Amino acid sequence: MKPLMVLLTGLMPFTLLAQQPGYKEPYRPQFHFTPRQNWMNDPNGLVYHKGEYHLFYQYNPMGNTWGHMSWGHAVSSDLVHWQHLPVAIAEDDKNMIFSGSCVVDKNNTSGFRKKAGQIPLVAIYTAHIIRDTSKRDDYLQNQHLAYSLDDGHSWTKYEGNPVLDLNKKDFRDPKVFWHVPTKKWIMATVLPQEHIVQFHSSADLKSWSHLSDFGPAGDTNGIWECPDLLQVPIAGQAGKSKWVLINSQQYTMQYFVGEFDGTRFLNETPADTILRPDYGPDFYAGITYNNLPAGHDPVLIGWANSWKYGESIPTSPWRSAFSLPRSLQLKKTGNTWSLLQEPVRKLQALRGQLIEWKNQPLSGQMVFPAKGQVIELEAELVPAKNDICGIRLAADGGRSLVIGYDVDLQRLYIDRSKAGDTSFNKQFAAVHYAAARVPLQDGRLRLHILFDKSIVEVFANEGATVLTAQLFPDPAANGIQFFSEKGGALVTTAKCWPLRSAWK
Ligand code: FRU
Repeated sequence: MKPLMVLLTGLMPFTLLAQQPGYKEPYRPQFHFTPRQNWMNDPNGLVYHKGEYHLFYQYNPMGNTWGHMSWGHAVSSDLVHWQHLPVAIAEDDKNMIFSGSCVVDKNNTSGFRKKAGQIPLVAIYTAHIIRDTSKRDDYLQNQHLAYSLDDGHSWTKYEGNPVLDLNKKDFRDPKVFWHVPTKKWIMATVLPQEHIVQFHSSADLKSWSHLSDFGPAGDTNGIWECPDLLQVPIAGQAGKSKWVLINSQQYTMQYFVGEFDGTRFLNETPADTILRPDYGPDFYAGITYNNLPAGHDPVLIGWANSWKYGESIPTSPWRSAFSLPRSLQLKKTGNTWSLLQEPVRKLQALRGQLIEWKNQPLSGQMVFPAKGQVIELEAELVPAKNDICGIRLAADGGRSLVIGYDVDLQRLYIDRSKAGDTSFNKQFAAVHYAAARVPLQDGRLRLHILFDKSIVEVFANEGATVLTAQLFPDPAANGIQFFSEKGGALVTTAKCWPLRSAWK
């Protein structure tokens, strides 16, 4: 740094310094969304409008742990490069602004339009109201509106709030969408303790009537949060789709596949089957975009962190990242429908020089001829009988993140116990292993791995199974290795690209 710059920097107020661009801090993801500073949790109000993908999110403008919840805001034209914008909807002296969604009110059903040509964007969110701050657990949650008449860039809270109040303590996370056949707005919300998703409908977003309840069903071990109901296209069957109901339940997520008749969700997922969009420890509160252009596959974004330890992860001056935006399709195996997820294609624009292996036999541990902590890797392995094989990332000496496959158990796992710092929270160290059942396809395991400093997302077998996990490795630990414990495995192809940063 030049002396003049040192002098100038010395004079800068701290807050300005903290806002300097960079994205070069230890553990800072380079192609995942993170706020420049402070705490973030759920994605909110995902909506596409006039060429912009809006991303709102649960944000604490005052600090790096949960609190003062407001809606942070960013936009993108490609779901890869993001531009930060000022806080969109801020907490006020009565309400914190909890999770919710955003719709494009093309026909001005809400009447919020003030001038011809304006298209109201309407945010529907949960107000979290603490009446007496000495009793933080004595609260009320109900549903509120805010609207924007400048394409999502500035917001006004509706003076008629709340628009839906059951006088309940826990009642939150409205996801609203326009239902074409009934020409109504449909809202999915949760009663977290009861494990119920409630559906309400409205003609104008301001007055709501109860339609039906879904649940308890599937996994009811933890409280339910952040529901989403959407139509997902069936892979390879142009024009065909099914309805998918998604919800978070602490500390993971699940989904159900079926139909929606305008009143009820009719579940077709067998009662003994639990389907998860992600089997890793760090994927929560995922929701999808509203108002995508016709023919655009649905796009899911989740919070790549966990309520178990999220507030103590060793990142500064921000905490939490979002998963990559993921395109969704459905496929049927036997009698069960399941989601296929893949990172949005536009991400490939960040690829650097390809480094490749073809038909590489594996025995023991073998070093791949590329290094890096910001990489994309596509690999196809043919494991031998009774083997445990896979890939180690952030490898250096005995340290690494293991993405392994146990042939006997047909299980794909992530082991982050030796992948870096786990000391900041006992729960993080305890949740070091995540596994999911992944049958081989024609004897092959196909992995698509996106590794970005402190996040790894593993898509197996065309995204039928996904695992997302955080890790906090030494920046110098950047080796990539393949392994086959018993030997005899074959890597038919391994393609690795270093990825350029999406942040300037
Ligand atoms: C889920 C959640 C939501 C709530 C928000 C508060 O992570 O607990 O249910 O609206 O976070 O920040």
